[in-house]
Amino acid sequence: MSHGGPGRISGDGAVVARAPAKVNVHLAVAPLGADGYHELRTVFLAVSLFDTVTVRPAERLSIELTGPFAGGTAGPDRVPTDRRNLVWQAAELLAQRAGVSAGAAITIDKSIPAAAGLAGGSADAAAALVALDTLWGTHATRGDLAELAAQLGSDVPFSLLGGVALGSGRGERLSPVLARRRWDWVLGIAGEGLSTPAVYGELDRLRAAGLLPSGEELASPDPVVAALRSGPVDALAATLANDLQEPAIALRPQLRQALDAAAAAGAAAALVSGSGPTVAALAADEDDAVSLAAALAGSGTFATVRAVHGPVPGARLVG
Ligand code: C5P
Repeated sequence: MSHGGPGRISGDGAVVARAPAKVNVHLAVAPLGADGYHELRTVFLAVSLFDTVTVRPAERLSIELTGPFAGGTAGPDRVPTDRRNLVWQAAELLAQRAGVSAGAAITIDKSIPAAAGLAGGSADAAAALVALDTLWGTHATRGDLAELAAQLGSDVPFSLLGGVALGSGRGERLSPVLARRRWDWVLGIAGEGLSTPAVYGELDRLRAAGLLPSGEELASPDPVVAALRSGPVDALAATLANDLQEPAIALRPQLRQALDAAAAAGAAAALVSGSGPTVAALAADEDDAVSLAAALAGSGTFATVRAVHGPVPGARLVG
């Protein structure tokens, strides 16, 4: 990392970056590995729901939360404002790597709910890396930031990259995929989050009990990649798959009704996003997404409903 002049720093010294939520349109999970992680084959799609991270010069690190999903007071969707927050860890890691002192007043404006299967915490960490790199003049390359991102969490490298990507390893090893068309979705967001480790643990338990296939053979992502590249919508609808869906439903049985509600409202297909509990409902086009969102909002099944589209770019400076 070389040192140099600042990038986009506004009058009060603020630097702003944003990063998108993701949906896994394919998520095949191998058996639990010796390292406590599961080997994955996944296809990530970045969608147009963004968290915004603003950083300002300060002596020490501090985190303030704003926005519609600033967090509850208990449960897995509670967002901490200390070193347990991935943004704090991102700041310390970047500062240590660049040899600068980790001081910044950080505001995270949360439009992505926490513990929802949308990689909201990963988006915050990715946006923080980009913003702090400019604030501190650390001038890390995209490759440097990707390496730090992989140390922070399995989904952080994708939050940095955005677009569409094939993920392997823990999800942190990425190959970008060129998608030629836009995909419209409606996200049905539940009131309360689910813990990612709990959902992986439930998958292990259901597999050990013989209630789900072992995962020794990972489904190929090739059909979903081919469908994502050019469509049509029915081809993508037919290939969506998520090994974490059944364990998420086992922990949150209302998810079955939520998926049924999406099908009844006219979605081309619906699946649980990542470890849930968000339901991602595929729409035929933008107009269809608007009517699907209205139908789902009217169904009373979800606390929040959002029409989104993807692919969109990964973490980047704003303004
Ligand atoms: O990498 P990250 O910190 O986001 O992972 C959170 C938890 O999710 C891990 O501690 C692990 O329990 C589970 N996980 C997993 N296999 C993966 C990714 C995450 O078991 N590939």
